[in-house]
Amino acid sequence: MVFAKSFVQFQSCIKDLIETPVVRTMNNFTQHSLVTTLEHCLFVSYVSFLICKFLGLNYYAAARGGLLHDLFLYDWHDGHRDRRFHGFTHPKTALMNATMHFNLSHMEQDIIKKHMWPLTLVFPRYRESYVVSLADKICCVLEVLGLYRLVWIRRIMLLHSKFSEVPAPLKSV
Ligand SMILES: [Fe+2]
Ligand SMILES: [Fe+2]
Repeated sequence: MVFAKSFVQFQSCIKDLIETPVVRTMNNFTQHSLVTTLEHCLFVSYVSFLICKFLGLNYYAAARGGLLHDLFLYDWHDGHRDRRFHGFTHPKTALMNATMHFNLSHMEQDIIKKHMWPLTLVFPRYRESYVVSLADKICCVLEVLGLYRLVWIRRIMLLHSKFSEVPAPLKSV
């Protein structure tokens, strides 16, 4: 019951974002292993939401910033020469795309811009930014190791009609 309540709360945090075409476009790109960028961002968003809720931090901003943190909208595996510095440049690209489509708070912007810290040297300004940065790394490891299959989040997401309207991923897990 507590879990269901918190999941509904999570959905309400990101509802206006997840239903937009630009966010759904992330499902057309592979992030890690067999996971699409949208699945990765949902994973990071939900983990960040849970951690921030547990710690009494701004879980609303963490969920939203987490969902948009990789809104760079290209396949970074495509071998294009512009991708050489993807690790350093994509937070800025994601922030530019996110601010073009949504009104974001300073905290949400900081979360997106600094999520690759410490790779991008500037320190995050908010504790929520550190949480999302940490959640991103945890989710990345789980995805690369294939442990994502064992995590219930994707299945739960797909159970909800709003989320299952998202186009099918390029590859299925
Ligand atoms: Fe990223
Ligand atoms: Fe990420």
